[in-house]
Amino acid sequence: MSQFKVMSIFGTRPEAIKMAPLVKALEIEKGFKSCVVVTAQHREMLDQVLNLFKIIPQYDLNIMQSGQSLYDITCRALKGLEEILEQEKPQIVLVHGDTTTTLAASLAAYYKKITVGHVEAGLRSGDSYSPFPEEMNRKLTGGIAALHFAPTQTAKDNLLREGVSEDSIYVTGNTVIDALLATVKEDFEFTNPQLKAIDFSQKRVLLVTTHRRENLGQPMENIFKALALLHEQFEDIEIIFPVHKNPAVREIAYSILTGHERIHLIEPLDYEPFANLMARSYLILTDSGGLQEEAPALGKPVLVLRENTERPEAVVAGTVALVGTNIESIFETSKGLLVNKDLYGKMAQAVNPYGDGKACLRIIDSLKDYSPLSS
Ligand code: UD1
Ligand code: UDP
Repeated sequence: MSQFKVMSIFGTRPEAIKMAPLVKALEIEKGFKSCVVVTAQHREMLDQVLNLFKIIPQYDLNIMQSGQSLYDITCRALKGLEEILEQEKPQIVLVHGDTTTTLAASLAAYYKKITVGHVEAGLRSGDSYSPFPEEMNRKLTGGIAALHFAPTQTAKDNLLREGVSEDSIYVTGNTVIDALLATVKEDFEFTNPQLKAIDFSQKRVLLVTTHRRENLGQPMENIFKALALLHEQFEDIEIIFPVHKNPAVREIAYSILTGHERIHLIEPLDYEPFANLMARSYLILTDSGGLQEEAPALGKPVLVLRENTERPEAVVAGTVALVGTNIESIFETSKGLLVNKDLYGKMAQAVNPYGDGKACLRIIDSLKDYSPLSS
């Protein structure tokens, strides 16, 4: 029997984390042939994930350049994929989420008339410039895709409102929960010396990540000034900030936050220590998409350093709050959660609107329905 060839294309850390459990499941699924292509829009941060999940891509376009523009990424990925698609002729290309790799890969597949399956489909903030360019990337990818793997009913409803036909949408849960549940362990031990030195039973850890393009500049300066104020006011907190590799983020972070004893600027962590650090944190401040999905599952309150979110489910559940990038609002909301136990308790409820750890199985079942294997 011939095999159904599925090509997964991704390029950044979050896509890799969220596609990894699917790739691993496809590798062992009878009747499927899995082929992995990375654009390497990210390099070190992508390789961290590939190593952890033991994924060896068949193709690696190695496109990352320091300070790359959206034009650089789009052109280099699109052109690089042409030859690979020509050679491999997959029956379906799977893309994930909303990065420039996602859009370029969808377009590359469309030009070859290859079916596109969109994992994490249907997220919408409703603002084309926030997050930028992710909101447009996912809308355009949705326009190309024939199969939409929506993580939640809300995401499905967004697609239905845009006229996507119902029988092409599968509500699967988010694969990030599959990855998370396989990674968080109660007895996990950190090897990073700064994390090893923290007494998690005595100190409250504030975990911070920020990298969004629209936060570069003044908004990021505000975020870091708010962190410095919190550090000054609360002696029992340790602020841990694994700084994104983007030089534009690093410059602002190091210039404002260096020299504070309990603010730890560390390199991006591998997913395993990072997920386990989330599980031991008191509060998470972030503009990341993925963290808004992971932290609620771990019962950790999240303050989102953005004006809007395409992930409203945990906001509705009360474990995630939008605080924007204003110094006072970040400081005051964090302070409230540090001094008011009731307020903290209300936010620190484990809720799981994004999945039950079985998203990959559902995606594979849908692919089976779609593939000629079922006929
Ligand atoms: C990209 C995605 C964003 C996603 C984020 C996850 C786009 C437009 N943006 O944004 O949706 O949320 O990844 O982190 O697709 N760099 C390194 N090493 C790395 C990774 C990045 O040095 O491993 C540096 C490079 O100088 C690179 C810069 O970071 O030029 C920015 O990377 P880029 O992928 O363009 O944007 P991100 O902000 O990472
Ligand atoms: N993450 C990680 N190491 C870190 C910071 C984040 O492994 O030092 C993980 C995190 O758990 C989540 C993903 O990276 O799964 C989020 O990536 P990022 O914030 O870069 O992108 P976004 O989710 O905003 O697209």
